[in-house]
Amino acid sequence: MQEQPPESGTVSTAQYQRFGPPEVMLIQEVAVPVAGPSDVVVRVAALSVNRIDTAARSGRQTFLTGRRFPQRTGLDFSGTVIAVGSQVEGIEPGQRVWGFLGTDRLGRRGTAATRIVVAADLLSLAPAAAELADAAALPLVGLTAWQAMEELKVEAGSRLLIVGGAGGVGSVAVQVARSRGAVVDTVSSARHEELLRRLGAASRFEPGAVPWQTLRGRYQAVLDTTGAHLWRLRRTVAPGGRLVTISPAGLPISMVSKALPGAHVSFLSVRPSRTGLSALADLVDGGQVTPIIRARFALADIARAHALVETGHGQGKVVVDVE
Ligand SMILES: NC(=O)c1ccc[n+]([C@@H]2O[C@H](COP(=O)([O-])OP(=O)(O)OC[C@H]3O[C@@H](n4cnc5c(N)ncnc54)[C@H](OP(=O)(O)O)[C@@H]3O)[C@@H](O)[C@H]2O)c1
Repeated sequence: MQEQPPESGTVSTAQYQRFGPPEVMLIQEVAVPVAGPSDVVVRVAALSVNRIDTAARSGRQTFLTGRRFPQRTGLDFSGTVIAVGSQVEGIEPGQRVWGFLGTDRLGRRGTAATRIVVAADLLSLAPAAAELADAAALPLVGLTAWQAMEELKVEAGSRLLIVGGAGGVGSVAVQVARSRGAVVDTVSSARHEELLRRLGAASRFEPGAVPWQTLRGRYQAVLDTTGAHLWRLRRTVAPGGRLVTISPAGLPISMVSKALPGAHVSFLSVRPSRTGLSALADLVDGGQVTPIIRARFALADIARAHALVETGHGQGKVVVDVE
């Protein structure tokens, strides 16, 4: 392993000994993680808090987390490479990186720590145009938005409707879609109007007053991030168009809709992707995607960050600064 001297014998990490409210998370010192030949050791600058993190902490993802404690939190990160395994190519100590761990070992590993060990294929170089601590707002939601745009085949001239356009995923999806030349409408509350305009959205519909009749068959692509209007959203899809939901609340409809005439609702689950991270970094460096950050907290205050995310309201991301 090509390595710089470790800064200390332990790592500060956020973890919990039982499921429960945000306060169950404690910052504790644990042994320095052991790295394998395909791994990269990263000094974490920041991470974002995602709804899956708060669901895991409260015990609503036990099919992924299991019930063994302690459990850790955090799935994405930005940081600086400290060391690389002997089989890792293209990554060197000192480089700025970002990444997304994937959800398969949710709870059993976490990025809310001063130092983490990550498989090299789960990270890429971070965008040069963003502060490292700001870039942490993007990996999980950015990959979700990017993969949704791929699945929806959004391209120049596509007319796209995004439900929840100002949220963590929605605010990146608007930007990725605009970078492809799509015309983007959103269903989002009035308090997000200014942000959505700045991101390039064309029209905004108030969630309780969407003119569903006039939107019939209007969109080649629809991205739902809320699960709220899915039956009616199906009718807004143009012939041959696509509808993707990322909301767990949309899962039952996605299964039922397969057997029905009309647009299918497909559920997308974000996957780790080095290619996707690199594409996202290029968009940030090209000025087409900017991290939207609603609030930031120190690692010691991660419970407050979780509490804010749990409200399910707001614009962009909540970031936790580690360095
Ligand atoms: N499947 C996957 O791979 C994947 C990946 C990432 C996230 N997710 C899930 O996707 C969902 C959204 O994630 P997120 O990170 O974007 O959440 P978020 O940051 O909490 O944003 C949610 C947004 O939805 C808006 N909203 C809520 N109800 C609405 C409605 N009825 N109509 C229009 N807008 C509404 C909220 O607006 P207000 O502020 O006005 O309330 C808020 O801006 C969560 O359930 C999350 O778990 C899934």
